[in-house]
Amino acid sequence: MTAHEHSETPAPAEYWEDRYGGSEQMWSGRVNAVLADVASTLPAGRALDLGCGEGGDVIWLAQRGWAATGIDISATAVRRAAEAAHAAGLDASRAEFRVADLSQLELEDRFDLVTTSFLHSPVELPRERILRLAAERVAPGGHLLITSHAAPPPWARDEDEHEHRHDDEHERRHADMNFPSPEEDLAALELDGTEWETRLLEVRERFAVGPDGAEAVLSDGVVLVRRRGA
Ligand SMILES: C[S@@+](CC[C@H](N)C(=O)[O-])C[C@H]1O[C@@H](n2cnc3c(N)ncnc32)[C@H](O)[C@@H]1O
Repeated sequence: MTAHEHSETPAPAEYWEDRYGGSEQMWSGRVNAVLADVASTLPAGRALDLGCGEGGDVIWLAQRGWAATGIDISATAVRRAAEAAHAAGLDASRAEFRVADLSQLELEDRFDLVTTSFLHSPVELPRERILRLAAERVAPGGHLLITSHAAPPPWARDEDEHEHRHDDEHERRHADMNFPSPEEDLAALELDGTEWETRLLEVRERFAVGPDGAEAVLSDGVVLVRRRGA
């Protein structure tokens, strides 16, 4: 029995499906700045995006010659991502999307780039286990990029506004959200230093506009590691 079965907290698939279903589009559709900056320096190959949302990063990669796969727990997000890829003229050999719960996922393929952007959730998410799974899927010579909120965005507490929920359960869920530092993410990977080199470990600041139109400076945690070989 999982934690959400003991409480009012919704199951992750239900929660995220509800979030995406609450608006026609949740994210900008644009590539995340850190991914664009990092991937621009790498030769195109096979890429995997974990928690891909509406597919902005996968589509950007595919448009630059990568064969990119995105995985997300929300069927609505994945449908939007596939529609956006199709509208951009990308077929499934370049941009492919799958609905899956990363906490249950078994993957066999290896990728030249495994990326995950803002894999945070106010409901159950075994983030560290998923990050270790991500590292396992990196091919020799390939990279793992973790982009995270190093601090909560100012609008994080309002993200469930569409649910009009401000009860104790809502408050508790947001208080529980985890925003690890890049150093904590790197430690959670438990990488063998003889096999991996750390290429970026830092916090980058950028301007962003929140869902209510308010501007803010956000802190992006960045971890880029490379598996030696090849
Ligand atoms: C904050 S959003 C980030 C989306 C996207 N990476 C971006 O940068 O726009 C987090 C994403 O993780 C997905 N997610 C949360 N838990 C998941 C799980 N267990 N398995 C797969 N995807 C999950 C959500 O559906 C959501 O799309």
